[in-house]
Formats: sequence, C-alpha cells, structure tokens
Amino acid sequence: MEDPTTPIARQRSFVTRGRRTEAQNRAIDELWPAYGVDFAGERLDLDAAFGRSAPRVVEIGFGNGENLLTLAERHPDRDFLGIEVHGAGIGRVLGETRMRGLGNIRIIRHDAVEIFEHGLAPASIDEIMIYFPDPWPKARHHRRRLVQPDVAEILARTLAPEGVLRLATDWEPYAKHMIDVLDASPSLVNAAGGARFVRRPDDRPVTKFEQRGERLGHSIFDLEYRPASHP
Ligand SMILES: C[S@@+](CC[C@H](N)C(=O)[O-])C[C@H]1O[C@@H](n2cnc3c(N)ncnc32)[C@H](O)[C@@H]1O
Repeated sequence: MEDPTTPIARQRSFVTRGRRTEAQNRAIDELWPAYGVDFAGERLDLDAAFGRSAPRVVEIGFGNGENLLTLAERHPDRDFLGIEVHGAGIGRVLGETRMRGLGNIRIIRHDAVEIFEHGLAPASIDEIMIYFPDPWPKARHHRRRLVQPDVAEILARTLAPEGVLRLATDWEPYAKHMIDVLDASPSLVNAAGGARFVRRPDDRPVTKFEQRGERLGHSIFDLEYRPASHP
C-alpha cells in the first residue's frame, strides 16, 4: 500500500517575486559573508555558523523579518536562523541585523523544506516558527501549501524533545488544513488539545502579512505543537 505521507511530487510552496532596492542589493553583497549561511545540500554546522551553541529558533518564510528581528533583539541568549527565498526581505533583514548590532541572526536563502530535510540534524531545533505562510487559496494550488503530512514529519524530527512548533495564519481554510494535517501527525501533539487553537504568543509581533489580514477583516489563528515524545 502506498504510504499516505509520501507526496506524489512535492510542489514548491513559493514563487520568487518582487524587486530589490539598491540598498537591499548592497546589503546582500556586503553582509552575506557575516550573516549568510550557504547551503550545498549537506548537513549545516550551526555551532560554527553562530560561533556558539545556544538554544536554536528557526523561522520559515520570515518575509520582511519583523518577527525574526524583534525576537532576536528580545532574546540575545537564543540563536535565530531565518530561512527565506524572497531577496528583498533577505536584503532588508541583513541591513537591519547590522544596524541593530544583532549577533544572533543567520540567514539561509533556500527552500526551507530542503534545509529541514538535509541541512538540520534530528532533535537539534528548539523552536520552529511558521507565521502567515502563503495560503494558496485555490483548490488546484493546495498541494503548494507548506504544511503537508510529509513536511510535518520532517519538521517534527528536527525538534528537540522539549521543542515547539508555532504557526499562525489569517486564512481560516488554511488554519483548518493545518489542524487536520498536524493533529493527524503521529509525531506531533496539539498543545491546545485536539483540533484547537492557542492564544497568540505574548511576544509574537504583528507582521506585514498579519496586518494585511486584519485590514481584510480576517481572524488570526495561532497553533502550537510539541513533539509526541514530549512527556
Ligand atoms: C505570505 S509571506 C509571510 C511573511 C512573514 N512571515 C509575515 O508574516 O509577514 C510567506 C513567505 O514565505 C516564504 N516562503 C514560502 N515557502 C518557502 C519555503 N519553502 N522556504 C523558504 N521560504 C518560503 C515566501 O517567500 C514569503 O516571503
């Protein structure tokens, strides 16, 4: 029988878009050596990348970086790895990282699913954040959604035993899809109890895409999952 968690062919959850400003291009050229992490398909050495070993937080699809920058500033004792494919957002975050003097941010420009699959060691990440991922509202595009059964397993195995996966969306059908997929994962447990959302985390800042959702009158749905191995 076919394993239901095996995708027929995984579709990318993003399209490359947008234009970069001169300043963003300059930031990428100048600051990549300091804050960028290159991925060549192999396991990443995050201790070397950050120059220390500290609790590790990964944000997938940080966009303009409001959340990543705010949390990195608030928690200098933790290291923040941002994964994004959108060049303008990466340029902005690199520039802000230097301006704010943040030593605890590193950036990867690559498909996050491949990074989790091949670049990150099992049980090595303390927190994964996925905030306002592209909702791909049309039925024919649902396979492009980042949250899928096989991706749930890939994320779960990188979480440390006490780790946490946090998500938020303003697109109600995607919120339901997330609950369906993640509650069904044998490797994750819904921290709110089955099929329920959590309160917004106190220190999660409002991002550009959240503001957009609010302007459109959308409700915001926060989700939290722990590894099933967690007692
Ligand atoms: C709708 S935006 C939300 C950005 C930000 N989290 C916010 O709340 O404003 C989703 C972002 O996820 C990024 N993205 C989507 N799939 C990705 C993937 N597989 N790997 C890395 N980034 C991804 C897109 O480039 C986009 O910038």
